[in-house]
Amino acid sequence: MYPKTRMRRTRGDGRLRTMVRETDLSVRNLVYPVFVDENISKPNAISSMPGIYRFPVNGVEKEAARAEGLGVPALMLFGVPKKKDRMGTQAYARDGIIQRTLRRLKERTDLVLIADLCLCEYTDHGHCGAVVGDRVDNDRTLELYARTAVSQAEAGADMIAPSGMMDGMVGAIRTALDDAGFDWTPIMAYSAKFASSFYGPFREAAASKPAFGDRRSHQMDGANAREAMREIELDIEEGADIVMIKPALPYLDIIRQARESFRVPLAAYSVSGEYAMVRAAAANGWLDYGSVMTESLTAIKRAGADMIVTYMALDYARSVQGKGGA
Ligand code: PBG
Repeated sequence: MYPKTRMRRTRGDGRLRTMVRETDLSVRNLVYPVFVDENISKPNAISSMPGIYRFPVNGVEKEAARAEGLGVPALMLFGVPKKKDRMGTQAYARDGIIQRTLRRLKERTDLVLIADLCLCEYTDHGHCGAVVGDRVDNDRTLELYARTAVSQAEAGADMIAPSGMMDGMVGAIRTALDDAGFDWTPIMAYSAKFASSFYGPFREAAASKPAFGDRRSHQMDGANAREAMREIELDIEEGADIVMIKPALPYLDIIRQARESFRVPLAAYSVSGEYAMVRAAAANGWLDYGSVMTESLTAIKRAGADMIVTYMALDYARSVQGKGGA
């Protein structure tokens, strides 16, 4: 008890503060999302996400080299195809945008290449799967996801990250990969993905806004924590190697619960809207970008995430360079 106990003793000296710090955020924990667009020949700035661009296939290696040079270990790749159609065929085309990007990067980097797997960027209606009537048909979609996973693995993906929230998606992809000889390719499942308005800027970036309706028939209700644990549990049973929670900052309690309930590696996706909020406030001079970045990413790690998918990955890596960090 006070005055014998003084919590401030270990805070008064910067060296001691570092020694008692409980959470270390390393560049090694970060995954950098990258958009590749078949419709452009020069990098195209995404207005709601300052510092983030869509890259042409032959421009993406420069950004990859930047990430690699900064010690960021992995990229999460998203494609914007030239041609969108009802069944999202470019998602599983041999020469699809992601497949071409994977082959190209595979030759030029040692980064871990994670392929996001969803159809919303590839369908003309912007939904995450095959639409039958006015619904996203679960089981028809699984066949398309399975084909996409195999074609991504064939093109060189080191890991497949299904983000469509279909039931049975992880099991279907696991079986397809195994049958095609990719039993060594891990799955990072977007397991607890909430139907979130924080994805707004991403949909501008990936041109993947649904033409009608929304994603609430497959993405989770943000009010539900128990259901999130069930989703994660099922994905682990179906063979997920890493499970993800998304968004991150508004769902730290879910990350913490998952950390306490499961022993698999845990990823959190700090999404486009989280990034846009901080950048917008910083642009107005209302928040300091650098310190809010470190505080936010540390909070996600402290909550229990082993790895964080974040648009701030390169900025964070730069911020610790020269400070003995990394
Ligand atoms: C689906 C997908 C989305 C995001 C990642 N994968 C969008 C959605 O579900 O509408 C969002 C990521 C972000 O907002 O940063 N392919």
